[in-house]
Amino acid sequence: MNEITSRLSVRTGGESHGKGMTVLLEGLPRGLTLDVAAVDAMLARRQGGAGRSGRQRLEADRIEVLGGIRAGKTLGSPLVLLVRNRDCSIETLPEPVRPRPGHVDLAGCYRYLDHDIRGSLERASARETVGRVAAGAVCAQVLLHFGTSVFGFVRSVGTAVLPAEIPGEIALEDVPRWTAQRTASQLYTLDAGVDAAMLEEVRAAGRDADTVGGVVEVQALGLLPGVGSHLQWHERLDARLAAALLSIPAMKAFELGLGFAAAGRRGSAVHDPILPAGILPAGQCGLPRRPTNHAGGIEGGIGNGQNVVVRAAMKPIATLKNPLPSVDLRTGAPAEAGYERSDVCAVAAASVVAEAMVAIVLCDALLARLGGETMEEMQARAGLGRARLDKLVPRDSGSGAAGG
Ligand SMILES: Cc1cc2nc3c(=O)[nH]c(=O)nc-3n(C[C@H](O)[C@H](O)[C@H](O)COP(=O)(O)O)c2cc1C
Repeated sequence: MNEITSRLSVRTGGESHGKGMTVLLEGLPRGLTLDVAAVDAMLARRQGGAGRSGRQRLEADRIEVLGGIRAGKTLGSPLVLLVRNRDCSIETLPEPVRPRPGHVDLAGCYRYLDHDIRGSLERASARETVGRVAAGAVCAQVLLHFGTSVFGFVRSVGTAVLPAEIPGEIALEDVPRWTAQRTASQLYTLDAGVDAAMLEEVRAAGRDADTVGGVVEVQALGLLPGVGSHLQWHERLDARLAAALLSIPAMKAFELGLGFAAAGRRGSAVHDPILPAGILPAGQCGLPRRPTNHAGGIEGGIGNGQNVVVRAAMKPIATLKNPLPSVDLRTGAPAEAGYERSDVCAVAAASVVAEAMVAIVLCDALLARLGGETMEEMQARAGLGRARLDKLVPRDSGSGAAGG
């Protein structure tokens, strides 16, 4: 078990310039038809976005399935995936001696009590997130079978910010439209004008031999209400999502729903009223309506049936062409920090990693909620749960609600 999951274990391995990146996923149900092309498509999305280094043109990330699948379906045994590195020059790369402020370089030396910066940076590098994205793509496929879509995008790059009302609460039927908008954008954002402004932020940082960060957002739609737990601190869905997003290299802050803005408002302007279900389209369960979603879809550590809305802030990339002051570890003398091939901006890629991490956490929470060893068992339990939910709150006949 990972400490932030209950039923799924996700472990990655591999160095940035080693032979390849691996991920081992334990706890998946038997009977999921694995869509390998969808996993590869998400990996390709992770490689994209304006501001990336030449490394991404060199690599062509594709999974090889080493275990856990027969006849295209999961067996319930560990799913073992490998993505080979084309640049596997770890044995011949130079030994950095001038630690970069903001990267693992100096802190890693303190951990191992040596000067082996490369020994740490090879693993702290975001190439490690290849394994997470592969795992997240598999988890997203499980979630889709239960009506849940996970959608990540870029909210800001530097000072270019997507207005708060875009996209608003994404509805399931709008996912294709927003996906098309995101695909058309160089920074994986949802407005063409803002995309152009973001691109200029990236280009300007590049011209100045500098780097730029931003904010990513992920919305999860259609999550079964009641998934998650209030019972233990480490089981709370909000805490797990925070840990999952902050585990992504360079992520420095997390928000759920209104996030930091909630602290400056009165309670009456923060909490989402609970209203009678009202007139419902056929097939929609009759849970009370919430006219706003300031809570970001989670109350008391449990999903409340609204979109889960999370954001994370990414600091600018630490490797600078115009380096900050550092010291030469061999002499202790002042020196400029080292530079090696690096992204100017990786916020677009980080939004894909964030989407993957949210998918992992929500898939785990769903597996824990439903139990069962196979997709079939889970489907049956989800059906029972939805039927019970539909009857949980009687329709208010006095309010003229339909379907009473
Ligand atoms: C998708 C992605 C790509 C990244 N690319 C680079 C890069 O090219 N160069 C770099 O120095 N850091 C890059 N980083 C950030 C480093 O991995 C990160 O700065 C480093 O781990 C130290 O940050 P930390 O203190 O948050 O761990 C990237 C991060 C992500 C999420």
